[in-house]
Amino acid sequence: MLKINENLIILESAALAESGKGLRFALPMLGEHVTGFVVRYKGKPYAYVNQCAHVSVELDWNEGDFYTAQQDFLICSTHGAHYRPDNGFCVFGPCKGKSLKPIEVVEQNQKIIINTASVM
Ligand code: FES
Repeated sequence: MLKINENLIILESAALAESGKGLRFALPMLGEHVTGFVVRYKGKPYAYVNQCAHVSVELDWNEGDFYTAQQDFLICSTHGAHYRPDNGFCVFGPCKGKSLKPIEVVEQNQKIIINTASVM
């Protein structure tokens, strides 16, 4: 993962597998230990702050494991909230109706560019 300035993180498109492991990155502007993550879903990258909408804990089971076994939803490892990968909306669990905080991400020329300033 390459960080080119305070706000932009750039990675190779190939680093992000379809419905596979997500990639985490630091979000120091939100706090010392706050992270974000990016996953690929139906061909497109989606990035969110790595904080459940129920209690602000990180979602992943093991580092980078955000998907359910069926790979259709992102799941919180603490109480099992299910989020739509394409918009972060919680469809099941204690925070149903709430959403993850999205982070701007674009993919072009085989690169994924995450704008971490977009969460501020
Ligand atoms: S902390 Fe995520 S569902 Fe409760």
